Amino acid sequence: MKVLIHETQGTAADCVAGLFAERLAQQPETVLGLATGGTMETVYERLIARFQAGEMSLAKARSFNLDEYVGLPPDHPCSYWHYMREKLFNHVDLRPDHAFLPKGDAPDAEAEAARYEAAIVDAGDIGLQLLGLGANGHIGFNEPTSSLTSLTRIKTLTRSTREANARYFETFDDVPRLAITMGIGTIMRAQEVVLLAFGAGKAEVVAQMIEGPVSAACPASILQMHRKVTVVLDQAAASRL
Ligand code: GLP
Repeated sequence: MKVLIHETQGTAADCVAGLFAERLAQQPETVLGLATGGTMETVYERLIARFQAGEMSLAKARSFNLDEYVGLPPDHPCSYWHYMREKLFNHVDLRPDHAFLPKGDAPDAEAEAARYEAAIVDAGDIGLQLLGLGANGHIGFNEPTSSLTSLTRIKTLTRSTREANARYFETFDDVPRLAITMGIGTIMRAQEVVLLAFGAGKAEVVAQMIEGPVSAACPASILQMHRKVTVVLDQAAASRL
């Protein structure tokens, strides 16, 4: 695990955008694994800036997002589909038919999870996976106690995760209780992983992930077993290391 500690969130996000641009320059057809959440917003701003400056193209890439809320259709303002269109897809040259997320409103969510896992396998698995970190150690929506070899499936969100994400919804009760998420096993098959965490609120869980035991109690700790992981932090998130 390579750990890079940056002075600010801005330089950390720049660094991640740089890793993406480098990978896409070497391999334009990379299958990207994308994430949502507040942490990713600066990264996507930096990626858009690089695209607009002609330094990076997603024209040949494909992308699979980590997760989506069960029950939210792609045009719902709180869906991750909506987030991705607003924060990235509408601003870069990724082909719309090359951008994938689970369908939150699929009539059979379990079948949709299996279909999504199969689509990732068919694409040859993820080349470069971007990850955020939940305050409870989750990656994607793989909450604590998730099987460390799990595949894409439905997960019940913990109260703390629903509380953390309630800021995007009108009321706490509007936050869905279930999500379709790539599994930990799915994520571990990625050739390369870049995880980002910012702020003092993540410091404790960052320390558990990097220095604690590998345990389903902190799902992100499994990344200690991955061959190629870069963890990009700001100083506040690194303060407990
Ligand atoms: C959500 C997402 C995760 C994300 C995490 C952290 O629950 N499903 O993929 O990494 O939150 O979010 P934030 O960056 O807003 O702290």
